Amino acid sequence: MTNTPRVVVVGSANIDLVTYTDRFPRPGETIFGREFSLGFGGKGANQAVAARLCGGAVAMVARVGDDLFGPATVENFRAQGIDTRCVRVTPGVSSGVAPIFVEPSGQNRIWVVKGANDRLTPADVDAAAEVIRGADYLVLQLEIPLETVYYAIGFAHRHGVRTILNPAPGQALDPARIAAADYVIPNETEAEAMTGTADVRAAARKLLDGGVRRVIVTLGANGALLAGEDGMRVVAPFAVNPVDTTGAGDAFIGSLAVFLAEGRAEAEAVSRANLYAALSTMAPGTMKSFVTREKFEAEWTLRGASAL
Ligand code: RIB
Repeated sequence: MTNTPRVVVVGSANIDLVTYTDRFPRPGETIFGREFSLGFGGKGANQAVAARLCGGAVAMVARVGDDLFGPATVENFRAQGIDTRCVRVTPGVSSGVAPIFVEPSGQNRIWVVKGANDRLTPADVDAAAEVIRGADYLVLQLEIPLETVYYAIGFAHRHGVRTILNPAPGQALDPARIAAADYVIPNETEAEAMTGTADVRAAARKLLDGGVRRVIVTLGANGALLAGEDGMRVVAPFAVNPVDTTGAGDAFIGSLAVFLAEGRAEAEAVSRANLYAALSTMAPGTMKSFVTREKFEAEWTLRGASAL
C-alpha cells in the first residue's frame, strides 16, 4: 500500500436544495413536501469529500459564484481538510445549485443549474498543473464544460496521472477524447446515454471498443459491473435499507479513488466502494451521509470478507 493517497477532483460544487416528498405533483398541481434540507453538494465536491473521509489527501479544482453560497462552499472544503488553492470565486455568476426531490423509497430526481461550474476552463486545469501532477488519481465528472473534461484527461495522461471519469450527468461523449481515461464509471442511465444501449454489458463492450481501458457500471442495489479486455464480472452489492440514495454514486467514485490509490486489488477496491456507497444511503443528505474511514472499516470488518 502507498502512503497517503493523493486525489485531485476537477469538478463541480453545488448547493443542494433537498425536498423529501411522498409523491411528485402532476402538471398544474401544488402539493406539500414532508421536509426540506439545504446542504453542500455537486458531484465533484461530493467525490472530493468522500475521498477525504476515506483518508485521501484531496485537492479541489473548481469555480464557485460570488453569491452567498460561494464563500460558504470554500469554507466547507477547508473545514473538511480539502486543499482549496485551486477553487476560484467567479464574479457576476451564481454558484451551482441543485433542486433535489427524494421519494419515501429513497429514490431521487435531480435538476442541476450549473452556474459558476460552467466557467471552469482548460486554463484552470493549467493553473492547477502542479497540484494535478502530484496526484495518484484525477477524478472528473460532467457538471463542468466538456472541453475542460477532455483537456484534463489529456493533461493527466501526458503527466502519468491516472484518471477516473464519472460521466454524470449522462450525455454522449467523443470516444476518442475519453479513451485515455483509466476508468470510465457510469451508472446504468449514463451508460445508455453514452452508448445508446440499455444493455449494460453491451454498453460496457462499446466503451471498451472505443479505447477505454476499464469500465465500471454502477448498478445501485445490484452492485457493479467491472469490465475490461480480461472479461466482465459483477461485484456483489451489500444489502441496506436506503432512506436517501442521493450522492451514493459520488460516494462510490470518491472512495474508489482512495482504495485504488492505496494499491488494493481492483475487485477488492470495487467491493469496498460498493459498501461505502451503500452505507451513504442509510442517512439523509448527499455528502452529509458519507461515513468516516473508521466507521467504514468497522463495517468492512463485519461484512467485507464474505463479499470477496
Ligand atoms: O450526485 C448527487 C449530486 O448531483 C448532488 O449533490 C447535486 O448537486 C448534483 O450534482
